Amino acid sequence: GSRQAVHCQGSRADVGVTSGGQSIIFRSKPQTMSAASVPRHIAVVMDGNGRWAQKRFLPRVAGHKQGVEAVRTLIRAGSERGVEALTVFAFSSENWQRPADEVSFLMDLFLRALREEVQKLHSNGVRFRVVGDVSAFPAETRLLIAEAEALTEANTRLCLNVAVNYGGRWDIEQAVAKAAAAGDASAFARWLSFAGQPDPDLFIRTGGERRVSNFMLWQLAYTELYFSDILWPDFDEAELARALAWYASRERRFGKTGEQVRELSATPG
Ligand code: IPE
Ligand code: IPE
Ligand code: MG
Repeated sequence: GSRQAVHCQGSRADVGVTSGGQSIIFRSKPQTMSAASVPRHIAVVMDGNGRWAQKRFLPRVAGHKQGVEAVRTLIRAGSERGVEALTVFAFSSENWQRPADEVSFLMDLFLRALREEVQKLHSNGVRFRVVGDVSAFPAETRLLIAEAEALTEANTRLCLNVAVNYGGRWDIEQAVAKAAAAGDASAFARWLSFAGQPDPDLFIRTGGERRVSNFMLWQLAYTELYFSDILWPDFDEAELARALAWYASRERRFGKTGEQVRELSATPG
């Protein structure tokens, strides 16, 4: 189709300019009932890999390996259903505290994905981005990230943000520091890692825990929160369909009354 490459673009100046909770970078797209019922941006905490493996008497890292398959399913099924952006939490700033061998396995898995998956993502029209403090990574990893982002920059079918060495508090702190250095602390949100991208409409956390675990603290302000007991490696299209059906049944009010929201959606244009 002729869909515009709106989803992960937007200049930094777009940030904070919203109307009714919708980012202005989407204003050219008509909001039909069915379009509004599909989340444009889904943020996913992929939790439960270790428990998935332990249930099978496998080492925890076997769950991380299997979890990559579930990411592939999420990307394919999400884009087929019209989702425009996905952000997946792959490694948090707190996950460095795990045993050293698990941390190095996760780093290798990320490096391998950078080497082996990016071409496939590119040919499927996926724009790839890494969100997080990449300064902690070796030069080779940083180079692969930069190359992958440059290669896929013009793709418009789906935007995939992979959050690695990411933490919501880190993001706010680094944005405040940059804003202060630029002498413009009032507009700090322009320096957040997700600047220019719409806030997530739907948050999905697998693995049974009902918590945010330092993910996208600023951006989740009005996001619908969906929690599933499924362990991440078992996440499949049916579970995505359940999350999307639940999302479609929500009434998003953004501080207004239900009456106001229903009146607005009944008014054409
Ligand atoms: C989530 O699965 C993946 C990462 C945090 C990297 P976990 O490894 O946290 O799995 P559980 O929660 O221990 O089962
Ligand atoms: C959140 O999962 C981080 C990722 C999925 C990458 P955790 O397993 O680290 O979260 P907690 O420790 O249970 O809160
Ligand atoms: Mg966990």
